[in-house]
Amino acid sequence: MFLAGSDTASAAVVWAMTELIRHPEIMKELQKEIREIGKENLGITEDDLGKMHYLKLVMKETLRLHGPAPLLLPHESIQDTKLLGYDIPAKTKVLVNAWAIAMDPLLWDEPDEFRPRRFLNSSLDYKGNNFEYIPFGTGRRKCPGISFAILTMELPLANLLYHFDWTMPNGAPKPEDLDITEGFGIVTYKKDPLVVVATPHI
Ligand code: HEM
Repeated sequence: MFLAGSDTASAAVVWAMTELIRHPEIMKELQKEIREIGKENLGITEDDLGKMHYLKLVMKETLRLHGPAPLLLPHESIQDTKLLGYDIPAKTKVLVNAWAIAMDPLLWDEPDEFRPRRFLNSSLDYKGNNFEYIPFGTGRRKCPGISFAILTMELPLANLLYHFDWTMPNGAPKPEDLDITEGFGIVTYKKDPLVVVATPHI
């Protein structure tokens, strides 16, 4: 529970911040929503999150492009199966490449692009009902922590964006050139740490 629930969510927040730094206009639009909804408060609370529709689009798009568990967890076939002409015996280890599905140009328009608005007016969600988008898996063994995961991603991200403006340090590459190479592991981190400058927003 601790491993599945902490590494994954923290990796996703770093990926969200990385894409927002690479797309300053999207970060600005998101900060406008967050600051408008939180303007009477000292910070963003769980109650505020339900009103933040653009934040939800940004999180969905982050999980599409940078799902923290791109191969889900290993599964095993329970009976002999025929699939696309192939015989798959029982007890075969099955790795589902959720990342490849989420990047398939037959299913997604410009899949390489970070475009949160692609989820606007779309019924696609991450609960495992739509096989083209399964960052939390699907079926009986899908992630049981989805609701908690969404909260542990949205709450810190919203507060970081509420309290601070974010820029690249002097001498760093242009935001759009920020490196998005992934590290190797069952949870997919950004390979190099994200180094950014926080300026308090008064
Ligand atoms: C961004 C955050 C998270 C992501 C992307 C994520 C993703 C996943 C994925 C892809 C699986 C495997 C599903 C499959 O193979 O079909 C999984 C399993 C699991 N997750 Fe998560 N997870 C996240 C957060 C959490 C949290 C917060 C918890 C608990 C507090 C949690 C607990 C678990 C557990 C216990 C399993 C194993 C379920 C089983 O084997 O039956 N996860 N998660």
